[in-house]
Amino acid sequence: MVKLISLGKRFKEVQAVDDLSFEVKGGEIFGLLGENGAGKTTTLRMLATMLKPTSGTASICDLDIVKQPSEVRKHIGILFGGEAGLYDRLTARENIAYFGKLNGMDDNALKKRIDELSQTLDMEEFIDRRVGKFSKGMKQKVTIARAIVHDPEVMLLDEPTVGLDVTAARTLQDFIAQCRDQGKAVIFSSHIMSEVERLCDRIGIIHKGRLVDIGTIDGLKQQYNNSNLEEVFIQLIGGKSA
Ligand SMILES: Nc1ncnc2c1ncn2[C@@H]1O[C@H](COP(=O)(O)OP(=O)(O)O)[C@@H](O)[C@H]1O
Ligand SMILES: [Mg+2]
Repeated sequence: MVKLISLGKRFKEVQAVDDLSFEVKGGEIFGLLGENGAGKTTTLRMLATMLKPTSGTASICDLDIVKQPSEVRKHIGILFGGEAGLYDRLTARENIAYFGKLNGMDDNALKKRIDELSQTLDMEEFIDRRVGKFSKGMKQKVTIARAIVHDPEVMLLDEPTVGLDVTAARTLQDFIAQCRDQGKAVIFSSHIMSEVERLCDRIGIIHKGRLVDIGTIDGLKQQYNNSNLEEVFIQLIGGKSA
């Protein structure tokens, strides 16, 4: 469902992402694991068509991210940590509907879908209130609903649990697992080992923009003869640093 083909991005002298190639299938959670500055956000921004690659490309649902960005956008749900970007003066429902309309949904489909999401995400109490005074957890639910209102096949999540309290982080992790169970392809970045271990079917470890290794968590542990993922990670990136 998602295929990176020698994907690369250079910012002047910095090769932020270097020749990345891997595939993620439907019903799979793929974790992009790397330290700060490893190139996770840049990779996800390219997949999300927010940033043009300087080399290589990727396809999402067989659509090329460089040649067919607007088509690609219909198939992806994006959740980037930190920035909520909600309109305070609109209600939760209006915020979500606004995005649905941008994705070409009609009023009937939208109403049905938002009611459904409101129920599954437990937002019924505040769905018709303005988001301005919402707590962080409430805003988070609205951003999740907004990201999936058009029922995308592919979810791109950049450190989505950063800054969330334990409960909100768990809600989000449950949501990510649900996406997988619905057959979506999920790519999410993180540097939190426990969350990666709990959620991911496969991981790719990136360091200085390059894919250092890729595999299932158990597979990598076996390969490096270490039952501690964090130690495997440090071994892998430690061995590669200057
Ligand atoms: N807009 C930009 N201009 C210049 N350099 C950038 C830009 N965005 C990211 N970089 C650089 O690219 C590298 C990868 O950054 P990033 O993808 O944000 O890493 P991560 O998300 O893994 O922390 C870093 O060295 C960063 O400084
Ligand atoms: Mg980042």
